[in-house]
Amino acid sequence: MISGEGGRAVRVGVAYAALRAWDIAVFRRACRFDAVDTTSMISQGDSATDAAPVAVIRLTPIAGGGTIVPVHSAAPAARHRSVELSERTIRAVARGRGPKSPPTWLFLRRLFNELVLRRLRRINFRRTHNDEAVAAYCAMEGEEFGAINALQAWSSWRTIPRNLAGRLPDRPVTAIDLCSGVGESTAVLAYYCPPGSHVLGLEYNPRFVERARSQTFCDRTGGAANVQFRAQSVLEAFRDASGDRIPDQSVDLVNACGAIGCHFDREELDRLARECARVVREAGLATLDTDPNGAGRDELAEVFGRHGFELVHEARSCMLDRRPQVCLRRVGHP
Ligand SMILES: C[S@@+](CC[C@H](N)C(=O)[O-])C[C@H]1O[C@@H](n2cnc3c(N)ncnc32)[C@H](O)[C@@H]1O
Repeated sequence: MISGEGGRAVRVGVAYAALRAWDIAVFRRACRFDAVDTTSMISQGDSATDAAPVAVIRLTPIAGGGTIVPVHSAAPAARHRSVELSERTIRAVARGRGPKSPPTWLFLRRLFNELVLRRLRRINFRRTHNDEAVAAYCAMEGEEFGAINALQAWSSWRTIPRNLAGRLPDRPVTAIDLCSGVGESTAVLAYYCPPGSHVLGLEYNPRFVERARSQTFCDRTGGAANVQFRAQSVLEAFRDASGDRIPDQSVDLVNACGAIGCHFDREELDRLARECARVVREAGLATLDTDPNGAGRDELAEVFGRHGFELVHEARSCMLDRRPQVCLRRVGHP
């Protein structure tokens, strides 16, 4: 019989092994087809992605960074040089630039603040009808939003780069952050989009937009990033900061964090997917959040699939993340 410190170490070890097994099982279930582990290839930091097709390597569950690339999609994705990021880099940047508190603390803080919002302020932002959701966000103060959104920010610094690694072209791109809030997910895009890119945040709440505009954003070289915001609903035609309609097929990446999976019903998702299909150019990407109580991976793949997108990847912030962000690629006109 092992007792004392030894017993505790064994229990911790068994719990950890069980969690890892669970993570692998969940990940394998998510990968119903063969997969490409681009992350491990990219982490070599060599010129393997220059013009050469990305090799199909193996199915490797990576803590927090599941990969689900159907093999038949791998070759077109890899024909051009793409942003190279190792898992180590992603983690280091997330620790340096994202929220510093541990996710458990951010989770508890969100729980507490959500309870306070519901009980004392009668604000419930967990709505799947979009007009109710935006009304709830508009009723919040900036600090209240900050408290409930910090875990999302922690997550975005991990999921977005895991989805972009090996897929986003390494040249200046045009990106749109849908439902950008006060600009926390936009900061991640600004950092990871290659220098010279243009990032536009679209957010319904004008007070959040004002707050986002007051921030400075930098790219990965430390230089100022070209970031603009516009207050509008993403259920309307996407417009730039000066109000002009975004031209057809002119965008390389549309991104959403903490919004699409939870605040849009099916009909609204369909409208959004149609507009994304209008602006995203062929082979462009849509990285979109999912929610277990709203739109999950399969629903997003189906709705966006009807508008010419195909699911190529799925990224989690950590192994316990129940809200992975999916990555879809525009494969052509529906
Ligand atoms: C949980 S916050 C996420 C904010 C940001 N993406 C981030 O990660 O920090 C959800 C945001 O979606 C915005 N939103 C919801 N529906 C919207 C719509 N139809 N158009 C624009 N913004 C919307 C809300 O106002 C809120 O700021």
